[in-house]
Amino acid sequence: MQKHAEKWTKKHILDIASLSREEIEIVLSLATSFKEISERDVKKVPALRGKTIVNLFFENSTRTRTSFELAAKRISADVVNFSSSSSSLTKGETIVDTIKTLEAYHPDIMVIRINSSAALYCLKKFTQASIVNAGDGKHEHPTQALLDMFTVKEIKTTLEGLNVLIVGDILHSRVARSNIFGFQKFGSSVTVCAPPTLLPFNYGQSGAILTSDLDQVLPKADVIIMLRIQKERQGGLFLPTIREYVRDFAMTEERFSKLKKDCLILHPGPINWDVEIVSSLKHKVHPRILQQAENGLAVRMATLYLVGTKQK
Ligand code: CP
Repeated sequence: MQKHAEKWTKKHILDIASLSREEIEIVLSLATSFKEISERDVKKVPALRGKTIVNLFFENSTRTRTSFELAAKRISADVVNFSSSSSSLTKGETIVDTIKTLEAYHPDIMVIRINSSAALYCLKKFTQASIVNAGDGKHEHPTQALLDMFTVKEIKTTLEGLNVLIVGDILHSRVARSNIFGFQKFGSSVTVCAPPTLLPFNYGQSGAILTSDLDQVLPKADVIIMLRIQKERQGGLFLPTIREYVRDFAMTEERFSKLKKDCLILHPGPINWDVEIVSSLKHKVHPRILQQAENGLAVRMATLYLVGTKQK
């Protein structure tokens, strides 16, 4: 742990774009050590004893919120969970005043999920705490990409030279953006596949290959990340019908039969079965997706520990 912390210099983790390959490797290596702690009888180490973490979720979450809370507890930090629906935001308090108020309690780390893209670059001015991005609008979800990369490395033993295919609502996906940045830093190729209305115009400079022809790119994929249709971010109608989406973009039995034998299918969750993936494939794909969720805990322990040792 100590040697990882000595190499780490960043106070915040706001995105994957600004993390170097070496920094990502530090997180993944430390997460490997931390994963074992959750398999012990006593699932706790004193790594961040005396530190205080506030989890601020202005958007709903299951995986990210619970795993950040458990991660904080397993490394012995004191943790407070803030949920916007039961807070004074409902009485008209602003997000900035909320951050300033919580800052008055001297937290060491704030883990924030928010629906405004890139808002955290502004909000960090109102606190001395380290900030970890738990998903900001359509911008980035850095710890999701880190846990995705951790899972791929765990199963495929490398992050280099892979064909990574991301399928689904690319336009609204912070997970896609973070994974494009992350996998490309290791020399893997990233293809994004979506209906034309869900492919962003400005992805030209991202280095990712854009396509709407899933059946053409599917057989070459080493890793496929299936994404949810984000109805909560779709102000207008982006799809004719879900039935057409399933026909052209879902992982069906037929498409599954055309994959490389060792192709790894991941999904950040939550999954809409029979939209992104047909439910008859559940027994084949869900175990790996749950392994991915499990790895989120270890990766979040690592990120909290690293920023927790670099606050001043
Ligand atoms: N993958 C993910 O961010 O899931 P939650 O919204 O449940 O946290």
